Amino acid sequence: MTQDELKQAVAKAAIDYVVPETIIGVGTGSTANFFIDELAKIKHTIEGTVASSEASAARLKGHGIPVLDLNSVAEISVYIDGADEADAGCHLVKGGGGALTREKIVLAVAKKFVCIADESKKVGVLGKFPLPIEVIPMARSYVAREIVKRFGGEPVLRDGFTTDNGNVILDVHGLQITDPVALENELNGIVGVVTNGLFAARKADVILYGTPTGVEKVEA
Ligand code: A5P
Repeated sequence: MTQDELKQAVAKAAIDYVVPETIIGVGTGSTANFFIDELAKIKHTIEGTVASSEASAARLKGHGIPVLDLNSVAEISVYIDGADEADAGCHLVKGGGGALTREKIVLAVAKKFVCIADESKKVGVLGKFPLPIEVIPMARSYVAREIVKRFGGEPVLRDGFTTDNGNVILDVHGLQITDPVALENELNGIVGVVTNGLFAARKADVILYGTPTGVEKVEA
């Protein structure tokens, strides 16, 4: 099976977690795109969606799926999104597509988080995938220096990329993330950091991994 076929299989499996007549939080990235295409087939069963990026909003609208403003929504039943890395405790690194801040915001409102990923995303220790950090542009050099001083690693500015919120991304290479909750909180304490790509304090409730022998489910 190709990687895309594995992503498609988990996207299909995630449909079982869609709660009828509720609002669904929708993530960003290639796996989330497959989910959006599956969601389109049952669009009449849901009340609407909240999107975690302009790209996902455009894809949802392209399918005729209602996309709501989060400020007009009190509750999201489930948030469904991909990941760049996941450990055995369902802690994630996200933000490879640069949508981490809106992803965290939509997740904050959601009751449940179902992560969908091909099995290549499963790791023993997080950090091989460079950790994305969204930063206010004027703070990027300061934040990069603080990261090196406090945690080591090598922050690299994502060249030519601006987030949906008008900020920049530092991708931090070379971290060995053995305590993801502590690192997530410590990074958030650096002035100028908007969000970091660790989804650990609030992690996935369920991860569906696409494998050549079927969909593997891991619960937190
Ligand atoms: C988007 O910013 C990310 O958090 C994505 O969820 C993550 O990069 C996974 O993307 P793929 O599904 O394309 O691998």
